[in-house]
Amino acid sequence: MNRAMKIGIVLLGLTLCSFLAFCTQQADQAGTSGTASSTLTQEQMVARGKYLTSIGSCNDCHTPKVMGQHGLELDTTRTLSGHPESDPIPEFPATCLSPTGWMASTNFHLSAWAGPWGISFAANLTPDQTTGSGAWTEGSFIGAMRTGKHLGMGREILPPMPWQFIGQMTDEDLKSVFAYLQSLPPIMNQVPQPIPPPGAPTSDASAH
Ligand code: HEC
Repeated sequence: MNRAMKIGIVLLGLTLCSFLAFCTQQADQAGTSGTASSTLTQEQMVARGKYLTSIGSCNDCHTPKVMGQHGLELDTTRTLSGHPESDPIPEFPATCLSPTGWMASTNFHLSAWAGPWGISFAANLTPDQTTGSGAWTEGSFIGAMRTGKHLGMGREILPPMPWQFIGQMTDEDLKSVFAYLQSLPPIMNQVPQPIPPPGAPTSDASAH
């Protein structure tokens, strides 16, 4: 074997090695962002979930508001407790609710939304057992975000809940969001069932 051939074989070997290393790295990356079990501690998951929830705008709709110096501010005594049960159901213009409705409308808290789908109310995400997320499992939460069905198997989740985008988070991120929600102080607040638009069959929207 001449010198040039030896150098060629060594180079080929090096190329193969780096290719294999690249593939392994890709597999590792897919593992951490895909379905691999979490490498984060419970405390880290809660912290990450809190971060994702704040940049994911969940508070926009799920936390009631107060009027502060700079306009609408989050009511931090009711973080993520959903549309307040004590608030009267807002009167929305009929144009919002027609099947050909060309506008949507919301209330002061940004927690009740009227549109061609009827009126939807942001859910109580705090871990209260009867009115919030206390009885949900991690699987039903992830299922809901991935499929757009209530608890991953019920009725369609209505607009403007952006499950189409939230559901694109990795498993680990969704698990972290769930861990954070479960770490919140439970707040008892029975959010109303959605109200279907006039003329629509009622059974679909009220089915749980
Ligand atoms: C633009 C408003 C809006 C934003 C932003 C929003 N939600 Fe929602 N969400 C809603 C509304 C409205 C509902 C109720 C929909 C219904 O009753 O069908 C809802 C329902 C839910 C539900 C109940 C699902 C089920 O199984 O019925 C969960 C869980 C949820 N949201 C989590 C989140 C999380 C987590 C975020 C942030 C990453 C978020 N939402 C951001 C408006 C919003």
